[in-house]
Amino acid sequence: MFPLHRPRRLRRNESIRRMVRETSVGPDDFILPLFVTSGRGVKNPVASMPGCFQESPDEAVKTAREAHSLGIPAVILFGIPEEKDETGSSAFDPEGVVQTAVKALKDAVPALTVITDVCLCEYTSHGHCGLVKNGEVLNDPTLELLQKEALSHARAGADMVAPSDMMDGRVKAVREALDGEGFTHIPIMSYAAKYASAFYGPFREAAESAPQFGDRRAYQMDPPNIREALREVALDIEEGADIVMVKPALAYLDVIARVKEGFHVPVAAYNVSGEYSLVKAASRLGWVDHDRMMLEILVSIKRAGADMILTYFAAEAARLLNG
Ligand code: PBG
Repeated sequence: MFPLHRPRRLRRNESIRRMVRETSVGPDDFILPLFVTSGRGVKNPVASMPGCFQESPDEAVKTAREAHSLGIPAVILFGIPEEKDETGSSAFDPEGVVQTAVKALKDAVPALTVITDVCLCEYTSHGHCGLVKNGEVLNDPTLELLQKEALSHARAGADMVAPSDMMDGRVKAVREALDGEGFTHIPIMSYAAKYASAFYGPFREAAESAPQFGDRRAYQMDPPNIREALREVALDIEEGADIVMVKPALAYLDVIARVKEGFHVPVAAYNVSGEYSLVKAASRLGWVDHDRMMLEILVSIKRAGADMILTYFAAEAARLLNG
């Protein structure tokens, strides 16, 4: 009891604080998302995500090179195709935007891990993550398209695939497709607990993937649920997921903590677009300290239990942390 115990003794100066610090965050923890589009020399700013761009493969190479030199181990690619159709067929075009960008990145920066997001919403005219019939997103027929997409990414040289569609059974389907063509060494990072979130707003501008009718609540998870998240994670691990993701991160730190506690695979957390844009907007208004808030958010995601963080802050935070 006080006055014997004085926790403030261990907060007196920075060196003592460093000695007792329980969690660290650094460039090793980050995965940088990139929005790739076709063409050359294209670098379109995303208005709602200051510092983020839609980039052609040659520009993405420059961004990735810089990320690699900052110590960031991986990038994840989202494609913005020229043409969209009902079935999202450009998602598995061998000459598609993601496939082209993967090749360029692996040629230029071979040591950088290139992950691809496997989903149809960026490629379908209706903007949903699966095949649509009579206003409904069909589960089983979508699996075949996701298999084709994942395979075409692996053939292009992707190091890891990340299915983000939330169809049931897609991890098993993707694993079987990859193994069937000898890609047994390619890990699957599954978006296992992905919630139907308002925090994805700015991403849909960046990826031009807003649903043209309805919303994603019939396949993404309902925010009040946590036991369901644990079930989704358990199922994905049974189906062969190597890494499981919780998304978004900040409003779901409890989910990250429970997943970390309950399972023995690495846990990824997605610090999504809305979480990024809130900090950008409020700091532009002069209401918050951008850098402190950014680092506090990232360390909180680590503290909750994430082993890696997908974050648009990756390069900025790495620069700051590298001094
Ligand atoms: C595609 C996908 C989305 C995000 C990542 N993959 C959007 C969505 O589900 O609507 C969101 C990422 C972000 O907001 O940063 N299915």
